Amino acid sequence: MTSPRGWLERGSTALRTRTRRVPVPEPSESWRTRRQFPTESTIPMPPEELRGWVGSAPAFHDVALTTMGRMNMAGLRQDHDVLDIGCGVGRTARYLCGFLNDDARYEGFDTSAPLVDWCQTNITPLFPNFRFTHVPLFHPAYDPDPSLPSAAEFIFPYADDSFDFVLAHSVFTHLWPDVTTNYLHEIGRVLRPHGISYTTWVLFEDAPSGYSNPRAKNMDRDPSGTFAIRRPANIGFSQQFVRNAHRAGGLEIVEPIHPGFRYFQDAVVAAKQPGMERTR
Ligand SMILES: C[S@@+](CC[C@H](N)C(=O)[O-])C[C@H]1O[C@@H](n2cnc3c(N)ncnc32)[C@H](O)[C@@H]1O
Repeated sequence: MTSPRGWLERGSTALRTRTRRVPVPEPSESWRTRRQFPTESTIPMPPEELRGWVGSAPAFHDVALTTMGRMNMAGLRQDHDVLDIGCGVGRTARYLCGFLNDDARYEGFDTSAPLVDWCQTNITPLFPNFRFTHVPLFHPAYDPDPSLPSAAEFIFPYADDSFDFVLAHSVFTHLWPDVTTNYLHEIGRVLRPHGISYTTWVLFEDAPSGYSNPRAKNMDRDPSGTFAIRRPANIGFSQQFVRNAHRAGGLEIVEPIHPGFRYFQDAVVAAKQPGMERTR
């Protein structure tokens, strides 16, 4: 009879052999048809030209599912009122429709009219508690019309203390530092006390032992040290800048920061601390 140690030793070889034979499943259409969230079959897949650079349908689902998992770990609940900053074509909203209670409020806003139109046409009629708003704002790469209002001074069109959970997925990776500071300040305003902020980033740190997202390596550092950019509008931030901007918004980061992987960005979870003063 083989001793436990012998099994372990043999097992490790056997496991290696088996692991090699079992391919890691990539998300595929057939995988998708076997596992569906209820609203996926109700809300159509947005057309490819509106889906952005992670454009394939399986990857579009993959990103949203992982975001849902990360937001659940951050403390998202079914009765939460949710604000989705830069909601895009409703990638996350499509899953939130099947998760949030009917009387929970969802608000999404975005600077792109075609993306917001798609959400208003395809999501709101089925889920009237999901509302989408177009806010035209200046962006040096996406909307370079100088007559548009500045995002650095934009006041979110929602009352103080009106949301339990605010998310911005893959949005701060396109915003300049002054807009970033303003948006974190606004998040601190519209969240209820102890409300949760979930945002994603490309972060870098200069200390040799510090965490840096590999994507930041391909970006040109601004001499200020606070941000790095890859044209036309992919932006990374120093961790210190992001920490300071959260503090100024009255938001306390819940450690640890979740590092990104594959095409997922670094995720920062924070809570609105009633005692913390918001400063400009
Ligand atoms: C990479 S997309 C992410 C969209 C969505 N959050 C998602 O995960 O699918 C970035 C989005 O930010 C929007 N955006 C850019 N500047 C913005 C701003 N100042 N305020 C709000 N949204 C903005 C863009 O129109 C775009 O839809």
